[in-house]
Amino acid sequence: MENVLFEKQGHVSIITINRPKALNALATAVLKDLEEAVKTVEEDMDTYALIITGAGSKSFVAGADIVEMKDKTVEEAAEYSGYGNSIFRRIEQLHCPVIAAVNGFALGGGCELAMSCDIRLASENAVFGQPEVGLGITPGFGGTQRLARLIPTGIAKEMIYTARNIKADKAKEIGLVNDVVASDDLMATAMKLANRIAANAPIAVAHAKKAINEGLQQNIDDAVKLEVSEFSECFKTEDQKYGMECFVNRVKDKEFKNK
Ligand code: CAA
Repeated sequence: MENVLFEKQGHVSIITINRPKALNALATAVLKDLEEAVKTVEEDMDTYALIITGAGSKSFVAGADIVEMKDKTVEEAAEYSGYGNSIFRRIEQLHCPVIAAVNGFALGGGCELAMSCDIRLASENAVFGQPEVGLGITPGFGGTQRLARLIPTGIAKEMIYTARNIKADKAKEIGLVNDVVASDDLMATAMKLANRIAANAPIAVAHAKKAINEGLQQNIDDAVKLEVSEFSECFKTEDQKYGMECFVNRVKDKEFKNK
């Protein structure tokens, strides 16, 4: 994979979008490599947390590739938007939590990629925005849907209609990012958070992710039923028995088996 780097440290996988010359813009070739990396994680139950970041210190992802997009027909535009959306949806539905380590520009498709992740950490130089209407298009990789679900609708609409970028501190103020850290500390902070997640029972974390993500799309009565189901499924696992035995026996250094 030329445009995406993949590595694994313990139970944490790391995907790095690697096209720094174009500020990691998501040309189709990049999306193809990203899809392959996502498939690797989908098939790897030994990955307990995933970090997605961008190569270099300037940009997470500066968006869909404008040069590639500019001559597309209506049909080709639909195919491109559908392809990007399908990959981002697969990221959102991965069994493990996904942390976006946003190390610079997260514009258009970059902001949309970050929003398909569970948690966003930003470096101090991060910039977020949906500049699409300034290019004569709408956001096309989930921005109209996820931004309006993640932050107050009026603020999402203002960001999309004005095409104005916001800095990391403002992104934190509106709830678009969980935290802002010094650029040099970003990956270490993301790893620490990923390892903190990975130290818990992976199957329980996966059930919690499913309950939150699917429950948010349902009415509260169905969502609570979903929680009952995800909660009770945990009682099939060795990790549930082990985790509770550790509590009862005051064992502090737990190591879950993912079983
Ligand atoms: N597509 C293609 N190439 C891009 C790109 C993009 N989205 N963003 C940056 N690049 C390229 C530039 O063309 C330039 O290439 P060359 O060196 O070959 O000229 C290189 O990356 C460096 O970029 P700049 O010289 O522009 O760097 P800068 O520091 O002056 O500006 C920037 C940085 C503000 C991020 C600016 O590059 C920019 O505005 N980029 C576009 C951001 C954008 O509009 N993103 C949304 C795209 S649309 C979208 O994403 C639709 C969707 O939802 C599916």
